[in-house]
Amino acid sequence: MTAANPVFVSIDTTAVDTARTLAQGLAGLVGGVKLGLEFFVAQGPAGVRAVLGGDSEVPFFLDLKLHDIPNTVAGGVRAALPLTPAFMTIHTSGGPAMMRAAAEAAAAGGAKRPRILGVTVLTSLDDGDLGAVGQSTPVAGQVERLARLARDCGLDGVVCSPNEVAALRAACGPDFILMVPGIRPAWAAVNDQKRIMTPAQAMAAGASHLVIGRPITAEPDPADAARRINAELGL
Ligand code: C5P
Repeated sequence: MTAANPVFVSIDTTAVDTARTLAQGLAGLVGGVKLGLEFFVAQGPAGVRAVLGGDSEVPFFLDLKLHDIPNTVAGGVRAALPLTPAFMTIHTSGGPAMMRAAAEAAAAGGAKRPRILGVTVLTSLDDGDLGAVGQSTPVAGQVERLARLARDCGLDGVVCSPNEVAALRAACGPDFILMVPGIRPAWAAVNDQKRIMTPAQAMAAGASHLVIGRPITAEPDPADAARRINAELGL
């Protein structure tokens, strides 16, 4: 796959065959493959290997959004190292010790270590939801606070929505990874995403990587959709 391509295709399914067909059909057209909780709970590490074809060169984003005590999260990161994921996710609200423990566990992967990305405030939560769980800070402030904390605790970056990219790029500096879902090319259906940007808009706002699912995977010709996105990105 092209190293310079920032697009991680999100393959959200429980079926190995579906995921493998998509991953193989998109080889060389996307920067990597994201598999998440749904697939991993159903198919586990063996399913991941079946989809990636044992080719550890395919950049792989293992999106499990870990959240537990530091020792357990560190154990989860260590247990994933044999899959050589390029990226993994943890919840920043697990706190500084948890984030540092995850970063230390990842470092044990050496040159092939996973980059640990923090999830700040889930985009499904609004100010009212934060209030309900006892957090009076508005969402935007909480997102920036958690992103800065993630950086200070040794995380490599965060996952953030398109409308957070510019503020987080300014707050966290040029080298911090900003992995951005909620991406819709102009020709794609919006689906259930609320705050969207096109691939080019998100990159211009400061994204380093894009997570794109249905605009590729639900198209009749996923490879053609990936090519159109690459053309939009000038790749
Ligand atoms: O199909 P679509 O492009 O909407 O897929 C986006 C992917 O990114 C899904 O795997 C979804 O769970 C994930 N995601 C998201 N919004 C967030 C965080 C993650 O859509 N705020």
